[in-house]
Amino acid sequence: MREPSSPTPATTGTVAGPSRREVGGLLGRALGAAGLLLAGLASWRFAAWSPPPPEPVSFPPLEGPPRRGPLVRQQGRVLLVQHGERAWALSAACSHLGCTVAPGPDGRTLDCPCHGSRYALDGGVLHGPADEPLTELAVEPDGAGGFVVRPG
Ligand code: FES
Repeated sequence: MREPSSPTPATTGTVAGPSRREVGGLLGRALGAAGLLLAGLASWRFAAWSPPPPEPVSFPPLEGPPRRGPLVRQQGRVLLVQHGERAWALSAACSHLGCTVAPGPDGRTLDCPCHGSRYALDGGVLHGPADEPLTELAVEPDGAGGFVVRPG
């Protein structure tokens, strides 16, 4: 009579493989490595790319008799304020959340249509919610009676 032998893995037909926990760990590490790779590529792309500098904005000479009070001229997000011989330029981007401000009805303030901020013509805050002045921009005469503003 033969003694029954104890079954071995080879005789039972089962093969020892990775457990679910091991598979989950491997998958997690692979996804983590892929995420790091993508983050590295994304940061490299942002570091390598910078937006082109904004184009200068030209304001032609004024026509007609000289004005007594200040005059606000606007081209998109650029404001040019002229008062007598003086001229200065401001960004029209509201310092609150970035809406475009425009001259108020009397031409003596710069008003934001979004949440009601109001600025003086020098860019200072007269009324919130904005709590920072408008950004001053570089301006220079164009040599022909007009001005060139250099945003950014
Ligand atoms: S964006 Fe101008 S007041 Fe809010």
